Amino acid sequence: MLKVGLTGSIAVGKTFVLGVLRELGCYVIDADAIAREVVVPGTQGLNAVVEAFGSEIVKGDGTLDRAKLGSIVFADEVKRLRLNSILHPFIIAEEDQRLREWEQQDPKGIVVVDAALMIESGGYQRFDKLIVVHCRPEVQLQRLMRRNKLSRAEAEQRIATQMPQEEKKRYADYLIDTSGDFAGTRRQTEDVYHALREASASLQNRER
Ligand SMILES: Nc1ncnc2c1ncn2[C@@H]1O[C@H](COP(=O)(O)OP(=O)(O)O)[C@@H](O)[C@H]1O
Ligand SMILES: [Mg+2]
Repeated sequence: MLKVGLTGSIAVGKTFVLGVLRELGCYVIDADAIAREVVVPGTQGLNAVVEAFGSEIVKGDGTLDRAKLGSIVFADEVKRLRLNSILHPFIIAEEDQRLREWEQQDPKGIVVVDAALMIESGGYQRFDKLIVVHCRPEVQLQRLMRRNKLSRAEAEQRIATQMPQEEKKRYADYLIDTSGDFAGTRRQTEDVYHALREASASLQNRER
């Protein structure tokens, strides 16, 4: 199975690209969704977070109080890194389990994992190919302000915590520029998909 990482800075259009790749027949994993699943009530993940941050980060109904946890970790870099290092192994384990299942079902398939910070974390090295989605900085800022209802200053602050787009682009096997309209992004994604099919075929030949 060809394993593909999909990354890029916040609000550049990764989720849209992932949706197109799913329509085209790829298996897809959204790391943000996995990150929410590994801390649902009753999980080892939630227990580990409670051990580190105290029971006040759990709401009356037993679910994680994301707003409270967010206000703690975004105000304190050490705590933010601590939370990341607690959750990371659970997220990777869950992803790996899905990868193994799909690999058995469909060895010729393509699986794409969408994760914003896989270059920063080094996680991109697990993949055969890397797609970096990017757009012009002003477009990114406008999209983030609109999607997350943030002021310009708030949006700029969130963007500034991530590796600059120009630096991420250097890691890419394939680039997708989403600065234009959805149709243009879709066309580029289709081109990347065809290149991935070829990469998948040559991987099969090598493994035979
Ligand atoms: N051409 C485009 N390609 C991708 N996303 C676009 C485009 N034009 C506008 N958007 C919008 O940009 C916002 C950010 O896209 P999203 O896929 O959620 O980003 P990410 O997953 O990288 O954070 C969304 O509201 C999306 O609808
Ligand atoms: Mg997204």
